[in-house]
Amino acid sequence: MVSLILNPPLNTSALSPASPQFINRDTDALPGQGPGPVQELSEGLMAVDASVSPKYFYNALGSRLFEAITGLSEYYPTRTEAGIFETCHAHLARALAERGIQRPCLIDLGAGNCAKAMALIPHLQPRQYVPVDISVDFLKDAAAQVQSCFPALDIVGLGMDFSAGLALPAAVQAEDRVFFYPGSSLGNFQPAQALQFLQHIADPAQGHARGLVLGIDLVKDKATLEAAYDDALGVTAAFNKNLLLNVNQLIQSDFDVRQWRHVALFDAAQSRIEMHLEATQALSVQWPGHTRRFEAGERIHTESSYKYTPDGMTALLKQAGFSQVRHWSDPKNWFAVFWASV
Ligand code: AVI
Repeated sequence: MVSLILNPPLNTSALSPASPQFINRDTDALPGQGPGPVQELSEGLMAVDASVSPKYFYNALGSRLFEAITGLSEYYPTRTEAGIFETCHAHLARALAERGIQRPCLIDLGAGNCAKAMALIPHLQPRQYVPVDISVDFLKDAAAQVQSCFPALDIVGLGMDFSAGLALPAAVQAEDRVFFYPGSSLGNFQPAQALQFLQHIADPAQGHARGLVLGIDLVKDKATLEAAYDDALGVTAAFNKNLLLNVNQLIQSDFDVRQWRHVALFDAAQSRIEMHLEATQALSVQWPGHTRRFEAGERIHTESSYKYTPDGMTALLKQAGFSQVRHWSDPKNWFAVFWASV
């Protein structure tokens, strides 16, 4: 965080007294936006091939563990993306200006600790900053930190599961919306879902977006990929197992994390890292109305992390309805930052 505070505030003379404000949209399942957590988790766990959505990684501890992952030597995406942004900030600001976007509303999807946006804000000079995250308590602290660095910035924090829909409240500025989706989080969607999500952002009737700044991890050798998702310290293993603690809290189940092993594998045919939790012995898990037996070696699929080629992602963005797409990469071509305008 220290290096981020080195960026000067935008304008300390015009403070934004009502900011940051918070809107929590994540209390219950909204009508028409899919099942709530109890139904969703029960269905996934009772399936023959059990699975839990990766969004359940991110309770308060999970968000902190993910933050720790981003500092691991094996987990190259965060530092590689930051390096690309350092060299492309000015190009990106110019690309927005070419589209007539002067003071955007920067909508940060999956904002987490807001660190990436903090580095971008001095360059894009947004009028409004909208961090969106499922982990509301974590987001509140992070947004307060952003506000202390940029006192004049209007900040509207949104606690919501945007994978279920992108309906934004009226407090979010409608003009010049630029969505910011860094960290290769789009890679956690199945490709068909990723296309749908991008279409949603590009659809003028839905997100009112002028453009999207997107960070995407690229295809590379299996050893580098697998080490990034199975680090020597075991932080990613803890992150994966903590999902079971979160599930226990959400559905009153009795998972014992000591009975599960972390597994991370690259499936080249599908171009994705898969993370699983594997039962180390035969066991049963119970929660109200349900019992699920797992055999030794049986797995719960917890995450897929798709890796793209620059051409593949450019084609996907164009298919989704973005008119102009460009990207910047690092010298090893391990990661790419895209600017896609509507
Ligand atoms: C958030 N997401 C992009 C991370 C990834 O790389 O797929 C989540 C993660 N899972 C394990 N390590 C990091």
